[in-house]
Amino acid sequence: MLDPQTVSFTLNGTPTELTIDASELLVDVLRDRCRLKGTKRSCDVEVCGACTVLADGLPVSSCTTLAVDIDGKSITTIEGLAKDGKLSRVQQAFVDHAAMQCGFCTSGMVLATTALLEQKPSASEEEIRHFLRGNICRCTGYIKILEAVKSLV
Ligand code: FES
Ligand code: FES
Repeated sequence: MLDPQTVSFTLNGTPTELTIDASELLVDVLRDRCRLKGTKRSCDVEVCGACTVLADGLPVSSCTTLAVDIDGKSITTIEGLAKDGKLSRVQQAFVDHAAMQCGFCTSGMVLATTALLEQKPSASEEEIRHFLRGNICRCTGYIKILEAVKSLV
């Protein structure tokens, strides 16, 4: 068994240091040790996107990311998007377009959209659909999510 490692990273803008077992998954560290429950866990096999967080601005599935691999990185969870009590523009667009029902997919969907708009501020509908293909929603039928994202490009 590998020894625990000390991992230093930035979590939602705050320098953070944790001692982590080599086998610990990022989703567990975020939810259980950092108490950031906005990161959801569902399929556990990198299929649904519910556990999506941003690592250095790129979406990753925290259910299949070893927590030791975030050493030196900047991690953003859904809790890190609002600033000074104001929702991010992506969060606000999802609210304005009622782009959620149960909300289980919403954290991952919003974070993936945030990354998309960083990369492609004028993304086409086809590019939006392609980029968000790894984020599954069982409730909305995707139409309102698509409308929310399209309102931002
Ligand atoms: S819980 Fe990670 S992709 Fe589904
Ligand atoms: S709003 Fe329920 S899974 Fe997307």
